[in-house]
Amino acid sequence: MTTPRADVAVIGGSGFYSFLRDATEHEVATPYGAPSAPIAVGEVAGRSVAFLPRHGKHHEAPPHGIGYRANAWALRSLGVRQVLAPCAVGGLRDSVAPGDLVVPDQLVDRTFRRVGSFVESGAVHLPFADPYCPGVRAALSGADPDVHDGATMVVVEGPRFSTRAESRHYAEQGWDLINMTGAPEAALAREMGQCYASLALVTDMDAGAESGEGVGQEDVFALFRANLERLTGLLSDAIGALPDPDDCACGSWWDGVELTYEVPGR
Ligand code: ADE
Repeated sequence: MTTPRADVAVIGGSGFYSFLRDATEHEVATPYGAPSAPIAVGEVAGRSVAFLPRHGKHHEAPPHGIGYRANAWALRSLGVRQVLAPCAVGGLRDSVAPGDLVVPDQLVDRTFRRVGSFVESGAVHLPFADPYCPGVRAALSGADPDVHDGATMVVVEGPRFSTRAESRHYAEQGWDLINMTGAPEAALAREMGQCYASLALVTDMDAGAESGEGVGQEDVFALFRANLERLTGLLSDAIGALPDPDDCACGSWWDGVELTYEVPGR
């Protein structure tokens, strides 16, 4: 079967498979190896939507072992121009609580052993002052009045959670959320000319609190599972409200720049 085209992608946990209608799965090869899993393509809100489970179909890949470049390239090769990226985050301040949904507007990349770019030669410096697409952010935050609009998310290498001292340090910097997968995913989407925004579900309050046990993986997974229906509903509404990507600068930052890597379909 030939792989169908898709306009929009969701990169998220494996629980999201069920929200695509009439989905078919496709193996996609890339110059960067295989993506995390075969890509499911189906219909949501009248759009052709690709779904890619970030950690693999059975959560095989740890955050630092995800093929971020293969994932971004594979989605672009299907035609994807807009990416919605639900993710689990820890909260770093009292203005958020477990169960809250947040659409971050800023990112701090504290990862250190990931390949973070398609650029391997030449002078290609992408603009990244605003790491998330304003149009996709607006569609996500407009889909539910309870969504917090705007936050700074620090992305750490993992796979371990932070120490209390690290967590306090991040909070003291003024950062709001902590996560392990938001980088280099956002930057690679920009390098592929895609509009990208995260939808963060607060699953825990990280380790900054003086009391308590700190963060445990089971709590994070359980909270994510409990909120899956809410997340898929919000994503469907947001997909129905996405603006035209041709009206956005995320897909044209490279005008006048000599790219030294391939963007499929460009
Ligand atoms: N993902 C979910 N909770 C997290 C936390 N506390 N730290 C890093 N990544 C997370």
